[in-house]
Order: sequence, then structure tokens, then C-alpha cells
Amino acid sequence: MADRKPRRQAKASQSDDVSEAQIAVHWQEQDYIAPPKSFIAQANLTDPRVFKRFALDKFPECFTEFADLLDWYKKWNRTFDASKPPFWRWFVGGKINASYNCVDRHLAKHRNKTAIHFVPEPEGEAIQHVTYQELFVRVNEFAALLRDFCGLKAGDRVTLHMPMVAELPITMLACARLGVVHSQVFSGFSGKACADRVSDSESPVLITMDAYYRAGKLLDHKEKADVAVAEAAKDGHKVDKVLVWQRYPGKTSSPTQLVEGRDFIVNDLLPKYRGKRVEPEQMPAEAPLFLMYTSGTTGKPKGCQHSIGGYLAYVTWTSKHIQDIHPEDVYWCLADIGWITGHSYIVYGPLALAASSVVFEGVPTHPDAGRPWRIAEELGVNIFHTSPTAIRALRRDGPDEPAKYNYRFKHMTTVGEPIEPAVWKWYHKVVGKSDAVIVDTWWQTENGGFLCSTVPGIHKMKPGSAGPGIPGIHPVIYDDEGKELKAGSGKAGNICIRNPWPGGFQTIWKDPTRFVRQYYSRYCKNPKSKKWQDWPYMAGDGAVQTADGYYRILGRIDDVINVAGHRLGTKEIESAALLVSDVVEAAVVPVADPIKGKVPDLYVALKPGLKASEEIAKRVSASVVSEIGAIARPRQVIIVPDMPKTRSGKIMRRVLAAISNRQDPGDVSTLANPEVVDKIRELYK
Ligand code: WTA
Repeated sequence: MADRKPRRQAKASQSDDVSEAQIAVHWQEQDYIAPPKSFIAQANLTDPRVFKRFALDKFPECFTEFADLLDWYKKWNRTFDASKPPFWRWFVGGKINASYNCVDRHLAKHRNKTAIHFVPEPEGEAIQHVTYQELFVRVNEFAALLRDFCGLKAGDRVTLHMPMVAELPITMLACARLGVVHSQVFSGFSGKACADRVSDSESPVLITMDAYYRAGKLLDHKEKADVAVAEAAKDGHKVDKVLVWQRYPGKTSSPTQLVEGRDFIVNDLLPKYRGKRVEPEQMPAEAPLFLMYTSGTTGKPKGCQHSIGGYLAYVTWTSKHIQDIHPEDVYWCLADIGWITGHSYIVYGPLALAASSVVFEGVPTHPDAGRPWRIAEELGVNIFHTSPTAIRALRRDGPDEPAKYNYRFKHMTTVGEPIEPAVWKWYHKVVGKSDAVIVDTWWQTENGGFLCSTVPGIHKMKPGSAGPGIPGIHPVIYDDEGKELKAGSGKAGNICIRNPWPGGFQTIWKDPTRFVRQYYSRYCKNPKSKKWQDWPYMAGDGAVQTADGYYRILGRIDDVINVAGHRLGTKEIESAALLVSDVVEAAVVPVADPIKGKVPDLYVALKPGLKASEEIAKRVSASVVSEIGAIARPRQVIIVPDMPKTRSGKIMRRVLAAISNRQDPGDVSTLANPEVVDKIRELYK
């Protein structure tokens, strides 16, 4: 049994580490809740012997069970190749196509079943139900356009900057059909942020949409494409074509002009490709399926490269057994497809299983916090998947709303941030009507799919705890010196995974050195070793394991801030602030927020002689929004006379974080300028 004592404070593992760990580690241990019998009776996975089947001594062959869920043109001849650690290769020699597996293979049985329910944000607008047959037709026609009009072929990269509409999975699957590598950029990111990804991936084509709805407003989205192309050009990268989907086919919804010879309206071009069919490209299992850029410890976001065979096998197995998706389920993941969760658990996993997957355009609390429950009732959603930030917002705005609607979830997921036990319990009791199982799934962009979670038909749930490693995943916690913490010790350390798994990313696009350095070098005892056992994967999160074998994730140990479940690099925000010429120094710290988990506070110091003003603070904030996007907007910009610094000149973010979080900054007497701390605290008031 788990003990119920409050945990002691986690040791900050790096000097600038801040409070995420400290907050989570104070949560009390919780009681277990058993999954309802009705859930177990229908669950895909209920046999605890699965953990024997996936024990470490069964590695790597156990993972053939994952790949066997897919249709292959040619079976692999080697399940796992470790000849170049840590660049693992899975299902070597196999030939496969992701679009075929998510679309074509379902036609025989599920042709007229809904693949995608597109729910527009305006409630007056009809929901669109795209059947597997219609998906097949639209994917083929768009693939023909990409091939014949844009000249795209297997291996080329294409950047997508698309909102949450049915055309987004259609575009992804059309790329996958051709073996073209897609790189979808979250629509809320700025044109400038999109440009970085366009030029890094060297995409000759950018695919966007003219407009989309967000919180009641039809936003002009095409304007961001113009910025992206112009900014990429400054980087020396030329975009040949911009393809623009229309939010309302046949109608222009953006005031931004088309650039002659560069911009093309997809809906005008499509009639030429009516009825066209494109044979799926038979791709090597290890060819890349997509890039997903994410924030890391240094300046620029990095492109995580995911494979076709290993990735698809991983998301399909986990969708079936952790999400418990059956073909007859209506599944709704409220994430954005611009993040990894949406790729794996809106598009690829559910569609590979012939589920009906909901794509919702808007904000869950708009026009009111009853909206998600109306959608659930209308569509008969029975599996629901969202983030703690969304749950907190729905709880704040409509604590009693779910009871008013006639829906029933058998299964619910939380992902992306630690969830407070009180919020978990509301989710369970009110949203789940005390009848749904909950899985708290811990994983990352880099991982392709879930790493830690309870298996819903086997394990008891424990609020605030992700659970053990899923079958085939063997986590371990190391301390800062590289010593393994005893299983179930209850001590905080750095969570790693002992073994490779098929969903793990293959490399960082164009930066294999960083791939090795950031994820493997810290705990690899022998860089010459060819044994996978010597290469644990370091996630960059702090965690504790309790005696029951469950892991509780405490948050990042590096310079990444998790805002509303979205990863932002402190360095990215700081570089945006430094673009304002008046600013000489910038430091970002995460501040606890009751809804978003964390929000950034931005401290800046100005050039000598300049006076602090509201106007400068506004320009700094605007620079962050235009460089990255509104999600990175600082809660406050605080102009300080000087940064608190160590004697060696390093900015002490820990002190700033304490001030922002109204905590005691502790002993500051060793700073080079301790007197500044009180001045900043004064300013902060
Ligand atoms: C955090 C999202 C606590 C963690 C799928 C990780 C979580 C980062 C959980 C990855 C969870 C994700 N409990 N923390 N269940 N899931 N995280 O790449 O810090 O956007 O490193 O992937 O989110 O964020 P990413």
C-alpha cells in the first residue's frame, strides 16, 4: 500500500530549478479507486499477464504485438536494430503506408462509418460527419493535387499551419499517402514561429487556411502565412507555393490578398482532381512520417522526427489498450492537432482503429462551459480526453454543467501536466459521473505515445499519479549523481526509460548531436557501448515512485515552462524580449496559476539611462507574441533596475521565481547584488 504521509520537499535538481516539483511533491497520497465492473467487462485489455509478456527479458520481440495491429506490404525481417546507439531502428525491412492503415483498410467493413466528426465553433453551424469513404476520396484527391500540382514526392517536407478543421487530418493523411513528411505547426503560433519551422524543415510548400473561429471571432489566418514566407526568406529559404484551404469552401474569409503565382486556393484547384486515386507509396518502416517541433533547453525549437512503422504501431496499440478504443466508440480528444497529443490521439491512433474521432474547432469554455457536454450528448461521445488546464477552466466556469447533459463517458484521459487531486476528483465525479475510468497519461512529444499510465481495465486509479510504465515501458529514476533510486523509494529524481520502444523519435531533424547529448548522454555510462541497456532515455522530468510502483510526475528539471500543457522554452521567450532594443537582459520564470498550471513572468533590465515605462513593457510583451504566439504572452513584464546575480554573473532565476510566486527567496546574501532583491520585491507589489 502507498503511504499517506505528505512528501517532503523535492531537492531542486539544478540551481535554477523552480517550484513545479515543489508544488506537486506536497500533494498528499490519495486512496485508490477501482475501475467499474461495467468498464472491465468490455475492456480490450484486462489480463495482468500482459506485463509478463512485455517484461524486459522479452525485449524487443514483445513489440511485434504492436506492429501486428497494422497492415504491412512487406513484413519486417528485423524487429529491432541497435547497431548505432541511440539511433534505434524498428521493424527493419518492413514496408508500410500510414494513410492506407488509417483509411483504405477500413473501407471493407466501415465504409459508411464516420471517421471524423468536425464540430465548428459556431453552434449554429452544422457538424460535418466525414465517413471513411469520404475521407478516402478527399485524401486521394488532395494527394493527387500535392503530387501533380506541387510536384511533391516521398521524403519531401511540407509545413502545415492549420487550425482544427477536418481538412487538417485530410492534409496529413494525403502527405502520408505520398510518403511526404508533414510538419504541422500549432495554428496559435505566430507567422514568425511558423517561419522558423518552415526554414528548418526546408519546406517548399506551406499549407494553411484562410480563417478559423476562436472564442467567437473569425480570425484572419492567411496573414500569418505571408509573415512566415517573408521571414523564412530572411533565413535564405524560399517557399514556392502557399496552399490556402477555405474555411467556407467557395468563399474567401480572409481580407489578406493572395500573392500571384505563389498562393493558391485549394478549393479552386480541387475540382481538377475529382475522382483521382493515388496508390499509397510503399514506404520503409523507418522512413519519417512527420516532424513535430518542440521547445527544449536551448534557443530554437527542435524538430522531433517520428517514423512511420514504429510510431504508427505504438499509437495504435496504446489507443487500443490504454484509450480502450473499439471501432464502435465515439472518441473525443480535445487537444489541438498542432501538438503531439493531437497527432497520436486524434488522428493516427484512433483512425488506425477505425474509430470515430471528433475534431473541435473552438475553445471549450466558449460560449459557456456547457459546450463540451452538449457536443458529447449530440455525438454520443463515450471516450473523452483532455488536459488539466481545460478541466480546471471547465470546473471554474461551470462546476455543475455536466449533470445537465445526457451523455455517458466510459473512459477519460488527462495529459500534459500534473493534475491536482482535487481537480482529478471533480473530473471523475462530475464530468465522469463517478462512472468513467480515468487514465493520467505521462509522455512527451519525443515519445510518440504514452509512457506511464494505469491500464484502465487492470489497475486501480490514484488521483495525481500517472501510474506505472505501460506494458513494454520500464522506467527508472536516477539521482543527480547517476545512482538508481530504489524502486518505490518515494524520493524525487530524474525519470528515465531503461529500454527503447517503437514510438520513440528517431532523431532531432538535422541535429543528431543534440539528440544524443540532450536525451542520452547524462546517464549513458559508456558512449561506445552497442548495448541498448547502456542507453537509458532521459525525459527531463522530475518524478517520484511510490511503493505501489506508480509514478508521480513533478515537472520539468530544465528550462522549459509548461504553460497550459504547452511547452515553452524560457530561452525562446527571453530572446524575443531581447529583440526590443531597449532591453539588455531578460529572465523568464514560471508562476503558479490556478487554471493554466504555469504562466510566464518576464523580468527585463534596460539599457543604462533608459527609464522604465509602461510603453516599453508593452513593446516587450508584443515582441513575445509576434515571435512565438499569444500562448507565450507574459503575465507581466517587470522592468527591474538590475537582475539578481551570482558573483560569476549568472542571473538567479530562482530568486525571481520566488518573488513572482510570493515565496521566500531564501538566503540571498551570497549574491553579487543582494540589495536588488528588496527593490524588485517592492516593484513587484
Ligand atoms: C509534462 C505532451 C504530469 C511533462 C504529451 C512532459 C505531464 C511534458 C504529463 C511534455 C502528466 C505530460 N503528468 N506532467 N500526465 N504529461 N507532462 O512534449 O513535463 O507537449 O515532459 O507532450 O509535459 O510535453 P509535450
